[in-house]
Amino acid sequence: MAIPDPALVVLVGASGSGKSTWAAQRYRPAEVVSSDGLRGVVGSGPADLDASTDAFAVLEAVVSARVGRRLTTVVDTLGFDTTRRRSWLTAARAAGLPAVAVVVTAPTAVCRQRNAARDRPVPAKVLAQQLRQLDVARADLAAEGWDDVVVVDTADTATAPSIEQPS
Ligand code: CTP
Ligand code: MG
Repeated sequence: MAIPDPALVVLVGASGSGKSTWAAQRYRPAEVVSSDGLRGVVGSGPADLDASTDAFAVLEAVVSARVGRRLTTVVDTLGFDTTRRRSWLTAARAAGLPAVAVVVTAPTAVCRQRNAARDRPVPAKVLAQQLRQLDVARADLAAEGWDDVVVVDTADTATAPSIEQPS
């Protein structure tokens, strides 16, 4: 199914599942609000975890401002926090913007392999924990009230959904 545009799009997926790549292939840079990117803005780089609190404060401000204007907003975080997801969904509803969760998955071995090839590989233990958090999130999404929950398997790019062009 096609993802509406404009829409709030909330990515959910483990490190190396391909969230940022998926977003970059489909959306303009200004439409993607990334916690890693903002750690690099308010901290020393995308991996500066000490900057997370400040980065998320900026992320929330950007999401709120964009959604309030009914602008397409792709939230690029791990997406595992149900409280944050629900508050983004509430903001989209208040603005009359469709809200879609996009679960980005890849086989564990593929996530592991992609992570190992990056400059700051996520430790295997952390990735394993993320995959457990992903299972919890996937179970919660159904009850949260999203207009759609799209599952993208990045090991199989043929299943990628298209995006509706604005009419
Ligand atoms: N990648 C790939 N094929 C895909 C998707 C991603 O080869 N279909 C590669 C990317 O080139 C990158 C790595 O896998 O080197 C991780 O992809 P990325 O999109 O950055 O993953 P994220 O889910 O955004 O990871 P993180 O949570 O750490 O930001
Ligand atoms: Mg990313």
